[in-house]
Amino acid sequence: MWCGRVALQRIAVAPLNSLRITRGLPGTVQREMSSLPRVYITRQIPPEGLKILSESGQVQFDLWDSDDVPVPRKELLQKVKGVDALVCVLTEKIDAELLDAAGPNLKVLSTMSVGFDHLSLEELKKRPFLSSEHGGWGTWRTLWLCGYELANSTVGILGLGRIGVAIAERLKPFKVKKFIYTDVAPRPELASLIDAEYVSMDELASQSDFLTVCCALTPETKDICNKDLFSKMKNTSIFINTSRGGVVDQEDLYEALSSGQIAGAGLDVTVPEPLPTSHPLFTLNNCVILPHIASASYSTRNAMSALAANNLLLGLKGQPMIKELKL
Ligand code: DGY
Repeated sequence: MWCGRVALQRIAVAPLNSLRITRGLPGTVQREMSSLPRVYITRQIPPEGLKILSESGQVQFDLWDSDDVPVPRKELLQKVKGVDALVCVLTEKIDAELLDAAGPNLKVLSTMSVGFDHLSLEELKKRPFLSSEHGGWGTWRTLWLCGYELANSTVGILGLGRIGVAIAERLKPFKVKKFIYTDVAPRPELASLIDAEYVSMDELASQSDFLTVCCALTPETKDICNKDLFSKMKNTSIFINTSRGGVVDQEDLYEALSSGQIAGAGLDVTVPEPLPTSHPLFTLNNCVILPHIASASYSTRNAMSALAANNLLLGLKGQPMIKELKL
């Protein structure tokens, strides 16, 4: 579920100083200066993934030893020189400059994310080798903080993949009446899992009581949630985005929310991240903004880290990866 891979010869899509990692991994043996494939990891990834890499005995790796400060670009460009594989997170832009800096040795790119909008697919293809709401408590009132119920509602999914299915599975017990979805084409196998009906984008907008965006950010989906979409939604509808901020035209969303065109929004992702607290969306009392935490549980982040590591090892061995982003 968590990584994709795009084939450099095959690319997988999972500090203040860069270090060779041994600490925190008792019992592992690093073969210093060995001829094992070299891997660079752009952030402290959860321990599960590091353990897999360490214990595999298949690779040697360096890591940017910070969990909050992204590796400076200059350091990254330096560190990737000649590596066989790279584990990155969504803050690293994997573009022509970086791929050129890495050079022809790079065989596997494993991103610890479902999203792949930080990867320049064009450049990868070219390479043959590869709310907070302000304010305090008010007096209890009969309609204070009331919202709309999922029971008997229609939930619309924009972009049906495994995440959309997982969301629907979780919502079902709340007695949702109907799931609808739109995508570039019907996806009957996935849709049958949640009994969802394929509809047009316009129907999705006009019928959804809750519209949840689950598509990847691509040139085609950039700003796809705009004035046009919001104008077709009911004024009782809630808009949810857990994919990427770039799929939403935030000015249009602000207009839709502040004018009452739609009832509310829940955003886990924004442009930029973090969204400055001075942003107009923060002034609204019908918009809840979270700091990109949809996958923020220890077990999920460890699973993402492990998947990124396992994908990388399989890719280096030339074997089919668990999740691969087809270019
Ligand atoms: C992803 O995996 O792309 C998420 O947005 C980060 O958890």
